[in-house]
Amino acid sequence: MKKIPTHKRKKLKPSPYDAPELYDLLFETLDFDIPYWLKVAGEAEGPLLELGCGTGRVLMRLLEAGAEADGLDSSAPMIERFRAKARAKGWENRAVVADMREFAMPSRYARIICPFNGFAHCETTDDQVRALRCCRDHLKPGGALILHMSYPGPKYWAEPDGVPVFEAEAKDPSTGRTIQMWDTRTKDPVAQIQQSEVEIREVNENGQTAASHWFATSQRWVYRYELELLFRAAGFGRWTILGGFDGKPLTDPEDQMIAWAWRSQSGIGRGYRGIRNRG
Ligand SMILES: C[S@@+](CC[C@H](N)C(=O)[O-])C[C@H]1O[C@@H](n2cnc3c(N)ncnc32)[C@H](O)[C@@H]1O
Repeated sequence: MKKIPTHKRKKLKPSPYDAPELYDLLFETLDFDIPYWLKVAGEAEGPLLELGCGTGRVLMRLLEAGAEADGLDSSAPMIERFRAKARAKGWENRAVVADMREFAMPSRYARIICPFNGFAHCETTDDQVRALRCCRDHLKPGGALILHMSYPGPKYWAEPDGVPVFEAEAKDPSTGRTIQMWDTRTKDPVAQIQQSEVEIREVNENGQTAASHWFATSQRWVYRYELELLFRAAGFGRWTILGGFDGKPLTDPEDQMIAWAWRSQSGIGRGYRGIRNRG
């Protein structure tokens, strides 16, 4: 392999999930989707698993509401922060470090959920199918997987690359500074991938940037019929893709996608072995 001279090596930026305290400052109070996930958990006839549970923005609220819920996340720092919060409440640990593309939990679930674009971190078709198969295998017969994904409509692709997009801000009570998240995106509409350079700015009371923290991440978007084919390939029995949290059909490219996929009652069917819907 050709060696790259040290001075030419690009310094790899950490993942935003390496800084769970900043994630919580910006997103812990975000609750647009919480009523939906509480309803899903309340109606589930059995335990629930959250994929990519992070620091517990959703999982903590489900547990507070008395749901029987577990979580998994591939980021050890995110899970460690969730565990600290659970310990402070005197709860048993309900979350593990694991990869959604290959996990083995001792329970079988009535519902598996993946909120807030978590599934976009599966960046290849192979990763997507592996994750969906793993979910299917962890569902009880008749159980359902529910994914929340933004729909990559034409307006999104038309946004210019390389321009910092303001995403969120919050006050850091420990410094009094405002924390802002700016996302500079490079989009590849063919690969359906967004590469992000994420800057978290600490802004002082004079409106000046006092410090900047840089991260990098990427996401792969899926379209409606592609997702249906992925569910089919992963052996699900049936599925429906809705256009938001209020249960309306997906009709507008500005809609959020809420995708439900059920494992069949018989539990038969593993993977794609033809065009028949087997799972
Ligand atoms: C956008 S955050 C969502 C966190 C939380 N569900 C929420 O709604 O606030 C996505 C999460 O997915 C996790 N993640 C990324 N790739 C993953 C993988 N392959 N397996 C499990 N978790 C993953 C990240 O570490 C991060 O915590």
